[in-house]
Amino acid sequence: MRSVIDILDLSTEEIDDLIKTACDIIDDPDKYAEKCKRKKLATLFFEPSTRTRLSFEAAMYELGGNVIGFSAANNSSASKGESVSDTVKTVSCYADIIAMRHPKEGAPLVASMAASVPIINAGDGGHNHPTQTLADLLTIYREKGRFDNLTIGLCGDLKFGRTVHSLINAMSRYNGIEFVLISPEELKLPDYVTNNVLKKKNIPYTETTDLLSCMSELDILYMTRVQRERFFNEQDYIRLKDSYILTPDKLETAKDDLAVMHPLPRVNEISVAVDNDKRACYFKQVLNGKYMRMALIMKLLGVE
Ligand code: NCD
Repeated sequence: MRSVIDILDLSTEEIDDLIKTACDIIDDPDKYAEKCKRKKLATLFFEPSTRTRLSFEAAMYELGGNVIGFSAANNSSASKGESVSDTVKTVSCYADIIAMRHPKEGAPLVASMAASVPIINAGDGGHNHPTQTLADLLTIYREKGRFDNLTIGLCGDLKFGRTVHSLINAMSRYNGIEFVLISPEELKLPDYVTNNVLKKKNIPYTETTDLLSCMSELDILYMTRVQRERFFNEQDYIRLKDSYILTPDKLETAKDDLAVMHPLPRVNEISVAVDNDKRACYFKQVLNGKYMRMALIMKLLGVE
C-alpha cells in the first residue's frame, strides 16, 4: 500500500511512467474506460476545491470506478470533533483509495499512517500539492517537450502557495533548471524551501519584486493567487492581493514560446485578455490534471 503525500514520494522514473500513461490515455481513452471497474475513490475535502476534487472524481469515473466523499469539513463528522485518523480508518472500510485536502499542514501524512488504503494528498494547508504538480509536469512536457534547461519564473504568493513548493521540489531533480522567484517581500518563498531545496541542491535562483525585469528570460511563467485564506490579517491581504496583474502588454518582451501557467483559481493576477494569447496554458493544465490523476489512481491501485 502506497500513499503520495509529497511529490518526492514519486521517483523521476515513476513520474516519467505516469506521463507515458497519461499520454496513452489521451490517445486512446476507451482502453482505460473499465480499468477501475468496481473500485471506489473517496474524496475527503476539508477545504474548498473546484478543480482538484472534480478532477479526481472525473478521473475515477473515466476509469469506470465510483466516487464517494464530502466537499467541506462541515459536511463530515470533523464538525463533531472527529480526528482525521478516525475519519480515514472509517473511510478505509468503504473505499479503495482516498484523495484528501485539509487546511492543516501534515494532515494527509497523519491520515496515511492510520489508513489501510492509499492516501493522495490533494493539498495540505500552505505546504504541498503533489497532484497539481503532476498536472504542471504534464503541461511542461506537452508544451516544452523537456524538463531540463528551463528558466522558471514563479510569481505571486510564494509563501503560502503550496503548488509552488511542490513544483520547486519536482523541478529541482532535473538539470539546468533556474528559478526566478517574483514576489512581494512579505510573500517570499519560505526559508525551509530555499534552504532545504534550492541552496542544498545548488540550484541557481534569483529573488525579485519586479516581474517585468525578468520577463524576457523566462521559459515558463507560473502565476499564483495570493492565498487569502492563509492570511492572519485581512488588511495585509488587501494590500498585497494585486501585487502582480499579468496583462498582454507585459508579455511584449516575453519569449514566443513562453508557457504561462497558473494552478487556478485566478482572481486578478492574470487579466482575461491574456487568455487568447497562444502562450496561455492554464486551462490546458486543468485537463492535463485529470489525465495525470487517472494515471496516478491506476498506479496506486496496482491496475495494469
Ligand atoms: C491551488 C490550491 O488549491 O492550492 N488550486 C488548485 O488546486 N488548482 C491554487 C490556489 O488555490 O490558489
